[in-house]
Amino acid sequence: MPTLTQKLVITAPDDWHIHLRDNEALATTVPHAAMSFHRVICMPNLVPPIKTTLEAIAYRERILTALAQADIDEHKKATFDPRMVLYLTDHTSADEIASAKASGVVQAVKLYPAGATTNSADGVTNILGRGAVFEAMQKHGIPLLVHGEVTHSDVDIFDREKRFLDEILSVIIKNFPNLKIVMEHITTADAADFCLAQGQHIGATITPQHLLFNRNHLLVGGVKPHFYCLPILKRATHQKRLLEVATSGNPKFFLGTDSAPHATHTKENACGCAGCYSAPHALALYATAFESVDALDKLENFASRFGALFYGLPVNQNTITLIKKEQLIPDNYPYLDGKHLTPLMAGQTLAWSVQ
Ligand code: NCD
Ligand code: ZN
Repeated sequence: MPTLTQKLVITAPDDWHIHLRDNEALATTVPHAAMSFHRVICMPNLVPPIKTTLEAIAYRERILTALAQADIDEHKKATFDPRMVLYLTDHTSADEIASAKASGVVQAVKLYPAGATTNSADGVTNILGRGAVFEAMQKHGIPLLVHGEVTHSDVDIFDREKRFLDEILSVIIKNFPNLKIVMEHITTADAADFCLAQGQHIGATITPQHLLFNRNHLLVGGVKPHFYCLPILKRATHQKRLLEVATSGNPKFFLGTDSAPHATHTKENACGCAGCYSAPHALALYATAFESVDALDKLENFASRFGALFYGLPVNQNTITLIKKEQLIPDNYPYLDGKHLTPLMAGQTLAWSVQ
């Protein structure tokens, strides 16, 4: 018999995977992120990408400038803490990892296989050839965040994550047994079970869209471009397994929205961009997913504790209150110069709101 929770007071959450983009985009994305989260791990797939510690420091400054200019509560400004990530390329050196560590600003390094997703053209072409960098990261305790998909054109898009586990990730883990790794935005039962089979230094983030939706939502009754993200939504059995592990209370699995802003016209397009925008209402989306399996009591650890634990950071002191009060997700937000940004579940009503 489902419990009827009406109010949930939880430790303030962090987002361990978000895309804020740069320059004018920050005027929209930074206030949305700061309203929802304390710490956010800012993905480095800008054009050009954030490849060095100096670039990461400068990017963080631009984010903080946008925060200062944002029309939001001063308390939200004070608690927002963007953490930076370097984009691994074929040319990243072990020395760069040492300066990243010394800076105290860089939290992790992101591996995008070249061509895997939005703005990944500068990604790594020979992943297993990056041993010296992985060695340095292992030594300095810098986690490797992986976009886990192979990119060969002959591999079916629905099989790309599984093939990455078998052919690439298992080899990295074997060769660098103490390297902390986050399997970002996992989408399959295979990835969930692979993660479970590893030591505690291998974790995974899970997005709201992969908990709430499957490929039928994307494709049945017409193509729905706002459900298109990478890795692509999989079949319902995978969605079910992700919900199971997210709500299992296992600290390996934690919140990473992968909220990624793409102007509406670039998604509603003959060659639409990949990415779902969820930052403003992410907590209500996760609450909806957890409630669907009667596991709201597991939300706090997933959203607000396990990520910090994995990164070896303190848990936030503040709390937020989720209440059972309907909220209508806007059709869009103003974005860039006269453009729009359509959020995930635009125009639909969610049962939960953050007070
Ligand atoms: C992300 C983006 O738009 O930057 N898109 C996506 O579909 N998830 C990139 C990524 O995380 O793969
Ligand atoms: Zn992402």
